Amino acid sequence: MIRNTGNHTQTALRTSLPETELASRANFAPHARVVREERPAQITGLPLSIRGLRKSFGDNEVLRGIDLHIPAGQFVAIVGKSGCGKSTLLRLIAGLEKIDAGSISFGQDFQPRDIQPEDIRVMFQEPRLLPWARVLANVEVGLGRDRASKYAHARAEKALTEVGLADKRDQWPSVLSGGQKQRVALGRALVSRPRVLAFDEPLGALDALTRISMQRLLERVWRDQGFTAILVTHDVAEAVALADRVLVIEEGRIAHDLVVNAGRPRQRGSAELAGLEGSILSHLLSADDRT
Ligand SMILES: Nc1ncnc2c1ncn2[C@@H]1O[C@H](COP(=O)(O)OP(=O)(O)OP(=O)(O)O)[C@@H](O)[C@H]1O
Ligand SMILES: [Mg+2]
Repeated sequence: MIRNTGNHTQTALRTSLPETELASRANFAPHARVVREERPAQITGLPLSIRGLRKSFGDNEVLRGIDLHIPAGQFVAIVGKSGCGKSTLLRLIAGLEKIDAGSISFGQDFQPRDIQPEDIRVMFQEPRLLPWARVLANVEVGLGRDRASKYAHARAEKALTEVGLADKRDQWPSVLSGGQKQRVALGRALVSRPRVLAFDEPLGALDALTRISMQRLLERVWRDQGFTAILVTHDVAEAVALADRVLVIEEGRIAHDLVVNAGRPRQRGSAELAGLEGSILSHLLSADDRT
């Protein structure tokens, strides 16, 4: 499926981008066996290709030509200074905002996909739970059209179990902690078994310990379910701890595209991750100095 601006139609389109990046990296990595074991067991995610993507708000030209291919099941982090267009890019990918120019397409080149709304989910910094609905019903909301199905309860219960909150199913959101609310939001995002899951600073409001435990949860559900993950974060340590690849956005374009080759589970604080974090931070700071 392709979203484009020209005639506002959504048309299937063939792309000719390789899907081999993940496989080839695992084969050549020094600890290939370990890396493979920690990758998603089964990749259910959709690949996505972005070509010449542009978006302005009035005179403010926010995205000035984004070109990007994300292989199925890859975990990508997006960083960049405040206001550089990270959330805008995510909203365009999720179809929440209209593209000015360029295209975003999902699916294999030999099998373009017509995506359903349930295929792409976004999780935001604020959990956005319905205060008048209990936890289980809040998760069921994520089923969209399938909410009326006889399996809705069972699917929501399974998603709640995946995020470790099965015992909170009958609680009201108001009695949950910030971290628990975010886990309900994650359960709601997972319940439809999305093929692309976009996160807009989902852990930004959490304390350091809860944040690390949520990072582990995100990595575990990604590994278990194999969706394509796109994480916008201000936290460069979080980006290198979770992602296969970190993109730095500057002046409306992807200025740096860095591969994180460290095996999983990642060793937080390791020299390898710290080195990568340092180099990404220096890119961000030098961009800041130029403005
Ligand atoms: N709906 C909108 N109307 C007008 N301007 C907008 C709109 N959404 C975003 N912008 C502008 O687009 C630019 C990019 O915003 P965006 O929210 O994508 O930045 P961001 O990189 O996510 O920033 P932050 O890290 O602070 O969340 C900003 O200048 C913002 O003011
Ligand atoms: Mg933002």
